[in-house]
Amino acid sequence: MTSPEPVADALARLYDVDLLEDPGDLDLYLALAARTGGPVLELACGTGRLAIPLAAAGFQVTGVDRDPAMLGRARAATARMGRETTANLRLVEADIVGLELPEAGTFGLAFIALNSLFLMGTRDGQRSALESLARHLAPGGLAVVDVWQPDADDLARFDGRVMLEYVRDDPGSGWQVVKTSSAQYDPTSQIVELTTRYEEGRAGESAVRWLREDRLRLISADELAGLAGDAGLEIETLAGGYDLAPIGSSSERAVLLAVRP
Ligand SMILES: C[S@@+](CC[C@H](N)C(=O)[O-])C[C@H]1O[C@@H](n2cnc3c(N)ncnc32)[C@H](O)[C@@H]1O
Repeated sequence: MTSPEPVADALARLYDVDLLEDPGDLDLYLALAARTGGPVLELACGTGRLAIPLAAAGFQVTGVDRDPAMLGRARAATARMGRETTANLRLVEADIVGLELPEAGTFGLAFIALNSLFLMGTRDGQRSALESLARHLAPGGLAVVDVWQPDADDLARFDGRVMLEYVRDDPGSGWQVVKTSSAQYDPTSQIVELTTRYEEGRAGESAVRWLREDRLRLISADELAGLAGDAGLEIETLAGGYDLAPIGSSSERAVLLAVRP
């Protein structure tokens, strides 16, 4: 099988295959949008997994991402949802580090979901992303950041070994997708150098391979709360999951809710 598909388009398409396993966070963002009334800002919105259903629920949503291929998929998916959703959602191609939209200071809810903060790659980048959240909120507005909290066993696996992530059918292409990854963790910098490989094709045909390289900077709940405070936000809740139960030593996630005074 040969494919002229650009790498960025293929990786955006495969991101949606990753998301066939529902992270389970949409109800939280719908509830928080209802609480604040919006408008809603999602930084690093990707293919619109959260931004589109929020817009479909009637909220005014702005989604920002720097990857045009991801935004292209978000636009196509929004158009399939119909005119009202399209009217409620604005997609902006921009870096969230140092972001300053004309609507800064007006959002009721602004969030960075599902580990996207890791992709800032450095502590300074993460600090700037928190500042972008704070800058875009109206007084009384709510910021949310959600990051995975790996335990020692998770980190021990980041030693270069190849790990099978999934074997899954892509309902869009009808192809089978095999995803593997390998990662190297540097505890001094909290950086994970992650290599992801996708192989896809039909049974009996040669596979197409795609490679993705990411630099992730892990961040503890404590450090996240510190950066939010530095950005001028007041911590409302530091939860361990999408049910907003308090974080504990065995929590797999840190979900920070913080208010702009
Ligand atoms: C893991 S995806 C998350 C997408 C979406 N938030 C979700 O929960 O499904 C991360 C997204 O962050 C975007 N991203 C990474 N660094 C960025 C930056 N500095 N500025 C804007 N977008 C960025 C990537 O392009 C990608 O679409």
